[in-house]
Amino acid sequence: MPMTSGLPPRDDSALSYRGGQLNIENVPLDDVAAAVGTPVYCYSSAVIARNYRRMAQAFSSKSPRLCYAVKANSNLAVLRLLSNLGAGAEVVSEGELRKALAAGMLPDGIVFAGVGKTRREIAFAIQSEILQFNVESEAELAMIAQVAAGLGCRAPVALRVNPDVEARTDARITTGTRGDKFGIPSSRIESVYRRACGEPSLEPLGLSVHIGSQITDLGPFRAAYERLVSLVRALHGKGLPVARLDLGGGLGVAYSGESPPDFEAYAALVEQVAGNLDCELILEPGRCLVADAGVLLSKVILKKSQENRTFVVIDAAINDLLRPALYEAHHRIIPVTDRKREPAHGRVDFVGPVCETTDTFCRDEHAPPLNPDDLVAVLTAGAYGAVMASTYNARPLVPEVLVRDRDFELVRSRETYEEMLARDSVPTWLTACEPMTSS
Ligand code: LLP
Repeated sequence: MPMTSGLPPRDDSALSYRGGQLNIENVPLDDVAAAVGTPVYCYSSAVIARNYRRMAQAFSSKSPRLCYAVKANSNLAVLRLLSNLGAGAEVVSEGELRKALAAGMLPDGIVFAGVGKTRREIAFAIQSEILQFNVESEAELAMIAQVAAGLGCRAPVALRVNPDVEARTDARITTGTRGDKFGIPSSRIESVYRRACGEPSLEPLGLSVHIGSQITDLGPFRAAYERLVSLVRALHGKGLPVARLDLGGGLGVAYSGESPPDFEAYAALVEQVAGNLDCELILEPGRCLVADAGVLLSKVILKKSQENRTFVVIDAAINDLLRPALYEAHHRIIPVTDRKREPAHGRVDFVGPVCETTDTFCRDEHAPPLNPDDLVAVLTAGAYGAVMASTYNARPLVPEVLVRDRDFELVRSRETYEEMLARDSVPTWLTACEPMTSS
């Protein structure tokens, strides 16, 4: 999809050009760059709130509990915003659980998923009195039973089903097919559930499923949910209690040309397939709540042209936004100063300074002439952006800013070089002796 220097992707986007300058809500991105520097992640609180409300409203009769997938964007301010709107959380580590709790999320709205919860994490979650564990294996079920027994508690559990359904998304973010590490095969569910019912330290509450992420058509959801519902009916038929169904996350967003189902279509499917069950429903949306609320604001360092290619080197890189390098994901990049009237749009490669060829945001993009120090916005970067950042090439972790109408606030500071250096230490046996020299 070519880079457009005109309007951002959607009419109801937080982004708009005013007086030739790109704004997020009513904040010019220039102002953010001037105050905080670049690169920096900027999130629109209005778009996150709008997405959450739209999703909640789409489910008319049977309102599911929306447990936001913290991994998509775990900034405490984002979590607090969603918590204020009524969201619960889906977490996959003690760190995410601690962040959710610190942001004010209620423990009885928190689901703990993930294939490798440690005993320590399980104990911490039990003591925190979370809503439920989504259990990914028989081995894990035994571990949870043991830890709960040791604490003299009953742990609330749901079994994560591997429905063997192809999510028709990138293979690297597909989680529900046979052979993936996730979940318990459908054929094993009944016996494992029965076993859970016999454990005094477990409280089996239901089933869960999550088949992948960035899913852009309803077919795979339907297939997975139908499988889940038939398992529930089978368990009910055997007299086993099933009170809850967790339908996971995975709804995709438009990065560059995709047209994922809207919340209403998704909700209609959920109600059609699972609406008649006498179960409480849970959803675990991540990306669809936060992706389009965020941009990664960056600055052009320089341009270099050689061998018939023009590289625009920007100050953001794969360590700040890993998705293009890891999944060949495409994030549109637009200039902060509106250049649509300028005729000379050429094709360029947007790259970062990191010493890897995969440090390429996009190739052959239509772009207006960009000069050193021009600002650009990498779009749809609110999900799986800052959370997947690293300090590779000893680049400090970038800051995050939350925007509200005309105001913005730093919600994560830029890592300083002092902080970066302070985390390493050199053993005295290396500092105590003379430098080794070859004789
Ligand atoms: N629930 C579970 C158990 C999950 O594993 C995930 C995401 C979600 C919910 C939320 O899925 P969402 O609604 O955000 O699609 N880093 C990748 C995405 C990995 C998703 C992992 N699990 C990316 O940048 O595309």
